[in-house]
Amino acid sequence: MRFIETFCFGFRNIKPCRLTWRQGLNILAGANGAGKTNILESLNILSGWGAFGGAKMTQLLSWNDDNFLDSNKPRSAALSCSANGEHDARVEVKIASRATLRLNGDAAGYSDIRASLPSLSFLPSDVNLLDGSPQARRLFLDKVCALLSPLYARRLAEYRRLIRQRTSMLRNTFSTGQNLSLRASAVPLIQLGSWIREVRAQVLGHIHLNMEEGRAEARPCLSLSLDYRGYPDMERGFYDTKERERHARAVLVGPHRDDIVFTCVDGVNKGHFAGEALSRGQKRRAVIMIILAAGRLIEKKLRAAPILLLDDVCAELDETAKRETIDTLSSTGWQTFVTSASFQAQRGELMWLVKDGSVEPYF
Ligand SMILES: Nc1ncnc2c1ncn2[C@@H]1O[C@H](COP(=O)(O)OP(=O)(O)O)[C@@H](O)[C@H]1O
Ligand SMILES: [Mg+2]
Repeated sequence: MRFIETFCFGFRNIKPCRLTWRQGLNILAGANGAGKTNILESLNILSGWGAFGGAKMTQLLSWNDDNFLDSNKPRSAALSCSANGEHDARVEVKIASRATLRLNGDAAGYSDIRASLPSLSFLPSDVNLLDGSPQARRLFLDKVCALLSPLYARRLAEYRRLIRQRTSMLRNTFSTGQNLSLRASAVPLIQLGSWIREVRAQVLGHIHLNMEEGRAEARPCLSLSLDYRGYPDMERGFYDTKERERHARAVLVGPHRDDIVFTCVDGVNKGHFAGEALSRGQKRRAVIMIILAAGRLIEKKLRAAPILLLDDVCAELDETAKRETIDTLSSTGWQTFVTSASFQAQRGELMWLVKDGSVEPYF
């Protein structure tokens, strides 16, 4: 899929604009604070993923609105796009205190839009995929699983609700009745949690296979193994951690505590954790390989080319590595948006110059 045209009004610092995007690579260049990430965020919302970092809808409304200082006057922003590729799609988002979404003229939810316009984003914080907190890794895997299966997104939301419920039970003092309900609450958690783990492990296996397939494109080749780690048997885990769980007042076993381990498979770093052994530049390239592998998986399973939204993906790469990354991204044929504070475009590459919230094509 690809965005053909987007319209943006009243969104962050972006001046009202209608932009016609290029089919393949779109490089957004401009100084810090110009609005590059804001443009990507608008595309992230239009593809059903919401604001970056879970920002509140009211934070997205432009401060430059004449009504900003008058809290009695309503403020709003609007985003819309037309997209095509495997099918046509039209998305409209109205943002006020909350977002109202429409897909092809009908009221829609985020998951409907994600299924219609699959996109994957990479934010500067995602460089931590290899060496950051397990939460970043779970989030990435959950995003891919949710794109591949709307049922996964629903079941994950239900699982999180049950975890919150059990955590609040653990925080209360115990009576016999509460003990019984605590025991009962483990049953659906174990069922849902085991299912979520199974899907995650399968998807991770597929990402790994696609990484191996695509390895020739990533120079110099990095080979990583991807392993899903968690307490092997959830039922047993609940039993084993019963006392510690009460003490910690937190659920200690389940997909919300699991992790993915990336290990180097060859070269001087063989057998070492990628997060510890690779340089920052290598980690960045490894993360790009993982994103591309996830993209290939999405393309195969959903039969729709994903859209990539990559924020500052080339930071910390030397000029050669930058060029190789851009060429690799270009060779996928997917519509890809890359932001960069400094970039030397080559002939035929379209850059967009972002300046004080305005976006202009720049050749
Ligand atoms: N709600 C808002 N209204 C107006 N300007 C905003 C809003 N939110 C953020 N900004 C401005 O957007 C700019 C940051 O844009 P960003 O896209 O992150 O820049 P960069 O080009 O470095 O990626 C900041 O200067 C900030 O002041
Ligand atoms: Mg930025």
